[in-house]
Amino acid sequence: MHDPQHPLFFRSRPLSSWLFAALAATATACVSPSSSLAASETDTPQWRSVLHYTPQRNWMNDPNGLVYYKGLYHLFYQYNPHGNFWGDMSWGHATSPDLIHWNEQAVAMHANSTEEVFSGSVVADTRNASGLGTAKAPPLVALYTSVYKTGSGHEAGVQAQSLAYSTDDGKTWQQYARNPVLTLNPESRQFRDPKVSWYAQGGYWLMTAVVADAHVVKLYRSDNLIDWTFLSDFTLPDVPHHGALWEMPDLFALPLDGDPARQKWVMIVNVNPWSIAGGSGAMYFVGQFDGTRFMPDDVAPAGSDPAQYQWLDHGADYYAAGTFSNAPAGKALTIGWMSNWDYANHVPTSPWKGAMALPRELALKTIDGEPRLTSVPVQSCAALVRQSARTYIHKIDLSSATRELASSVHGAVRNIDLTIRPGTAQRAGLIVRGSATGNTGTRIFYDARRQTLIVDRSRSGNTWFSGAFSREHIVNLPLHGGKLHLQVVIDQNSVEVFADDGRTVMTDLIFPSFDDNRIRLFADGGDATFNDIVLSEPS
Ligand code: FRU
Repeated sequence: MHDPQHPLFFRSRPLSSWLFAALAATATACVSPSSSLAASETDTPQWRSVLHYTPQRNWMNDPNGLVYYKGLYHLFYQYNPHGNFWGDMSWGHATSPDLIHWNEQAVAMHANSTEEVFSGSVVADTRNASGLGTAKAPPLVALYTSVYKTGSGHEAGVQAQSLAYSTDDGKTWQQYARNPVLTLNPESRQFRDPKVSWYAQGGYWLMTAVVADAHVVKLYRSDNLIDWTFLSDFTLPDVPHHGALWEMPDLFALPLDGDPARQKWVMIVNVNPWSIAGGSGAMYFVGQFDGTRFMPDDVAPAGSDPAQYQWLDHGADYYAAGTFSNAPAGKALTIGWMSNWDYANHVPTSPWKGAMALPRELALKTIDGEPRLTSVPVQSCAALVRQSARTYIHKIDLSSATRELASSVHGAVRNIDLTIRPGTAQRAGLIVRGSATGNTGTRIFYDARRQTLIVDRSRSGNTWFSGAFSREHIVNLPLHGGKLHLQVVIDQNSVEVFADDGRTVMTDLIFPSFDDNRIRLFADGGDATFNDIVLSEPS
């Protein structure tokens, strides 16, 4: 609780604005059913994502309870049913057959007079080990954080892990009668974000949860999802970010370079603030897990800065990332919240606030001699891109110049694949969501002298809604063979950049004018070549 930016510090807005937010209308969205309310003047349909999940209305943060079950992906999420600001935390719910087309469902778990419902996870208890379903109709089981209120019988503000279950495939949820199932009170009041997975080697359920302000991930095991036994703590010998919070941990195994004989374990720890791009972000560690303890292969030396750690994403807007339980073919599929606690509460969208980043598939690959996570958009997204109308440009040479692409390829929702050879240019890249005059646009480019990839949103549209909206994000990225492949996904209010097959990813929110939709290529201070440019309009 040291960070004044953290949501736990925010107070509710005055009743008038609460009422306004509740009554505010909705805009259209491809991903969700249309609303019966009329649009209001303050609505911002121009920033409603087409490819990314957004709730019809109101506030959303972390993805929760990511589970694949009976042919559907379930996305639960931190949600305020009553307003377009953080508060009254509940679990919203959406389902999708393919991780791209989502259907918003009824709120799954509501905050009530005794507690709020913070983040957590869902697993399919297929053997009915909890006894909360039947052998024939096993339950879905959610482990989540209860945040107690006055009158609950618990000390107000204390966080503990609770259980809920569903016997109708996730539609409705029943609180377990003897909650909480796990508490650290009075030792800790900031114990939260339980993530449960099946540990096949040991034949038991594994839980990771954080003591947020102590920078500790606690590991537990259980046979029935109700009774939990402590296994071990994971922390850093020299925590480089005192005052920051650890949130939303996740521990899972992946084969290194696709070889099942070389399995490694990955621990994701979301940290706020102290991210590589400022504010909140998702770091990870690679190592071994022996059934009790997670041991990272190596940890940055004392006094290291964020650049010496590994990050799932180097943009400003990727947080609370976690993996799906029970994903087909054991894939590591992730969703992250596309925002940043530095300014999330001020994001100028209405009547909703909060979007999820594109679902991604993680892999562990040897890169520069080290095991590193790569992340690329999930296959169904790639298929959507392949199926949509496409324009192919074999080659464009630029010599200290900017070239606007044909108006036929302009747009606010685009997938752009291209290979950049910076050659003698000092900087080479593209500008998306550009204005007719060229004065505004989001620049994604390679700086050859510094060997860095940069997303510059300093002139991307509305940047003034918050003083904490960072302008430029930079990642070190030496070229292989003098070239760089980029996949750039632009949606109504975001850019996601996947460099060299997901070796480096950058996700940034932007708030451009609706008609700023031009795409330009540029080379500064020399000659650059752009090859195999493919533009498509996935929808
Ligand atoms: C992360 C987080 C979690 C918490 C939830 C509250 O963004 O702070 O630690 O459970 O959001 O909404």
